[in-house]
Parts: sequence; C-alpha cells; structure tokens
Amino acid sequence: MGKIDIGRVRSLSIKCLSEVAWHDTARMRQDVREAGGLQADQFEVKWTPGNAAGVSALIETIDGGGRSRKILMDAGWDVEYMDGVFRREKVDRMLSAGEIGFVYITHEHVDHFWGLPAVLKYRPDIKILIPTGFSQKSRQTLQSSGHQGKVVELGPEAPHVLFPGCASATFDIPILLKTHGEQSLYFHVEGRGMITVTGCCHAGVLGLLEYAEQEFEGFTEFHGVYGGLHISPFEEWGPAQDELLDKLKSYRIQRLACNHCTGVLTVQKMLEKGMHVVRGSGKNGSVSEFYVGNGDTIVF
Ligand SMILES: [Fe+2]
Ligand SMILES: [Fe+2]
Repeated sequence: MGKIDIGRVRSLSIKCLSEVAWHDTARMRQDVREAGGLQADQFEVKWTPGNAAGVSALIETIDGGGRSRKILMDAGWDVEYMDGVFRREKVDRMLSAGEIGFVYITHEHVDHFWGLPAVLKYRPDIKILIPTGFSQKSRQTLQSSGHQGKVVELGPEAPHVLFPGCASATFDIPILLKTHGEQSLYFHVEGRGMITVTGCCHAGVLGLLEYAEQEFEGFTEFHGVYGGLHISPFEEWGPAQDELLDKLKSYRIQRLACNHCTGVLTVQKMLEKGMHVVRGSGKNGSVSEFYVGNGDTIVF
C-alpha cells in the first residue's frame, strides 16, 4: 500500500488540562510493588486513596474553511480531581454544549481512562474512540461508567484519517500493568509540518516518528511533539536514554511539548543537548515549569 495524504488543518492548539498522573510517585510505586510489580493487573493494585490525579488534554483544530473541531484526549484518573480540572478549564461547558466531537482514549492505563465518569457527567452520549486490545475489565469499566454513546475501536492494520489533517495510529503492543495497545494522533498543519500527539508513548517516540515517515505522504519535517514520551518516568538515567535523545535530536523537531511520563530529568537533558523544549508556567499544581503543564496551551 502507498503512503496516505492525510490532508491539512490550518492550525492546531493543545491545552494541557492535566499532566500530573498522581500526586506522590513513591506512594504509587509502593502500591504497584505491593501488588507484585509492573506485571500486576492495574485492577488488582490497591491504589492509595487520594493519590490519584490524571492525564488529559483538549485539542482544537481549525480547518481551511475556518471550522473548529475539538477533541478531548484522555479522561484522567481520579473523578473528583478531573471534575475540578474540567471546570477550571471550562471543559464542562464545552461538553454540555456539544462542542467536543469525541473523546480519544490513548490507552487503558488508570491515569488516562478511569476518570471517564467526570466526562460523562456532562455528556453521557459522547462518542469514544479506543484502540483495539482493551482488556475485558476495561470494557466493563466503560460499560459501567454510564456511557450511552458510540464506542469506536481503531485497529493497527492502517492509519485512520479521523478528519482532514488528523490521523490516528494504533500500536498493538503489550504494556505495563496488564494492559494492551496504545493509539496516538498525527496532525499535518499547513505550512508547518507534522505534529504528533501522544498519551504515554509506550511504543517509543522513535517508533511514533518512523511510523509517520512510512505511512504519510507530503510532509517534509516534524514540527512538533506533544505529550508523555515515557523516556524516564521515574527519573532514572543511563546510556540507553542518552542514545535515544541523540536519535530524537536528529529529527530536528522544532517544538517539543513533552510532559507527564517524559520525566523532568529527560527535559533537563534535552535542554542540555540544545533541543527545542517548550517551557511551561508551572501553575495549577504542575510538576515543573520545565515543560508544558496543567492549564498551559501550545499553538501550532
Ligand atoms: Fe500515563
Ligand atoms: Fe501509560
């Protein structure tokens, strides 16, 4: 099969609603250890009450005709925390008014998916896009969340053009905590190039970029990356991470708006290597002003 031209959008804006998955990392790691480690089932971990937060972003595109489209990427974890986030950023009103086209769940991890009732409170019939590979327990979670709308499963066989200028790719891989499959978004912005938008990027950021090179026609450079890149989520560093950053640097990405599981140390190393990191404001309980955090917006 030949390469796909996914079309263009005129502009893309991404607001990080929250990139803080949990409040206390040591606590979270202990919860996982006590359940048997990273191969444990996320449904069987006894998560410490009050430690959960969540990951979510509001994406808005404008097409050539001036039409706006909004996507809610991921639903976070703690329902009360996410409700507060949605109200702070007026996402509650956008959902109620039907301004958000669909919810795009990148993967079934707790910190991206379990906050769904906070979304459905304002729009129970919203369309939800999930990657194939969801566990039976996650499907039950979806059913018992009060969702009344359509669920669309996107498979790994080929990229899916969601609308002109926006495509989704499913990576059919096993992930930590007995989960499976992750999907990421690609936007082609007129006059800028390709921008990838990802939840945790468990498949690896280089794979995400290579995928676009193989599958998509008509772009000459990667302009930006937004989201969690899972390079050093627990702030550990070694030669493998260094090598990965050097390879990433060779793509000459003009704006790296990475956060969440990318790791603060990773971003510091990116800055040392002269990579183009987009800094944040550090507000609303963000982990660091080193990167785009809670309530920060980046416009491509
Ligand atoms: Fe995550
Ligand atoms: Fe994840």
